[in-house]
Amino acid sequence: MNLLITGGTVIDRTGERQIDVHVADGHIVEVCEPDVTIDATGLVVCPGFVDLHTHLREPGKEEAETIETGSRAAALGGYTAIVAMPNTDPTQDCVSVVDFVRRQGVIAGLCDVHPSASITVGRQGTQLTPFAELADAGVKLFTDDGNGVQDPQLMRRAFEYAKGLGITMAQHCEVEALTGGAVMHEGDCCSHLGLPGWPALAEELMVHRDIELVRLTGAPAHFLHLSTAKSVELVRAAKADGLPVTAEATPHHLSLTDELLRSYSAIYKVNPPLRTMDDVEAVRGGLADGTIDAIATDHAPHVAETKERPLDQAPPGMVGLETALGVAVAHLDMPLADIVATLSWKPAAIAGLEETHGCDIAPGSPANLAIFDPEARWEVVPAMLASKSNNTPFVGVPLAGKVVHTILNGQFTVRDGQAQR
Ligand code: NCD
Ligand code: ZN
Repeated sequence: MNLLITGGTVIDRTGERQIDVHVADGHIVEVCEPDVTIDATGLVVCPGFVDLHTHLREPGKEEAETIETGSRAAALGGYTAIVAMPNTDPTQDCVSVVDFVRRQGVIAGLCDVHPSASITVGRQGTQLTPFAELADAGVKLFTDDGNGVQDPQLMRRAFEYAKGLGITMAQHCEVEALTGGAVMHEGDCCSHLGLPGWPALAEELMVHRDIELVRLTGAPAHFLHLSTAKSVELVRAAKADGLPVTAEATPHHLSLTDELLRSYSAIYKVNPPLRTMDDVEAVRGGLADGTIDAIATDHAPHVAETKERPLDQAPPGMVGLETALGVAVAHLDMPLADIVATLSWKPAAIAGLEETHGCDIAPGSPANLAIFDPEARWEVVPAMLASKSNNTPFVGVPLAGKVVHTILNGQFTVRDGQAQR
């Protein structure tokens, strides 16, 4: 298909401009004889989004999500690449499972699925996975996400190997000795409700520990779903010291607070928990000044029955792929180009995908594109989500900015808001 995209505002790393975009053979070209022309007047044309943190649930929990349904949700959210989290069953801790996930992603054909692998075997926190073999198989990010690596000695070794192999450790920062039985942020709201709390300190201690391990080893670290003001401050200081650290924040941590737990609804239960307005503002500030590099969804589908349980028995997590742009544009007071940066080329670089995603919109680049209406105002309807689970916390929250088309290797995965397969 030769495609001509006219009238849109192109935004990429080089800036913002009004140009027509020509696509042929899966790439941006100087000029082509179009088979299809899209009128993008009033729309933004940008490199496709890259999610650093997607739980696809396959293998093991296909009742909540599959690689196909999660990829479809991603495409509808403007994503052309996603990093699949390894807390599957079996765990993505060896080449065979990683290859399975990648292959299923290719078969679904809705976005590029890049599996991450766990840091420890079975995410048990005791024995490192075969990093070299997994790196050879194309894995760039390693994480025990769902859990942090508790043992500092093991984590030190992980960073030392990572340094030699050119891979990145991505940490879910939670000192478990401080969070046992917790269902929400430890603070005033939690005390009123009489619920067991997850203190900010449990995250900040591990952020601090890993920053010091980065200083010691020289290996890069990526901090997953940062949620507290102090965590943002620690990363800001580490970057000022020139350390190779990067960080992400989720749509929910930049928009929602622990007050929502007054409903006792497990829809609002997530790890790390929703924090206070001060924390939300610190996360927004971190995104605005580049301390936090990327918005990552932490798309965590769970079947409805489990989310209807009492708070202490429900699993943590929220879906996010289809609403991320809408939340970001509605809640961030940042130039649109900076918001797109946090969704596209900055996460692409962290995932090591800069050759194929987040590329400048210029001849020769692969045609992986998102086209969205920055002025659209909408609300999410859970039953309409393409994800197999509908545990979204954004019902009733005004969203701004909606994906119209997503293009992967020059083909529509989403056209006029409809998934193409
Ligand atoms: C995630 C999940 O459900 O796998 N849950 C969550 O609350 N974020 C795990 C995780 O990202 O820590
Ligand atoms: Zn996590």
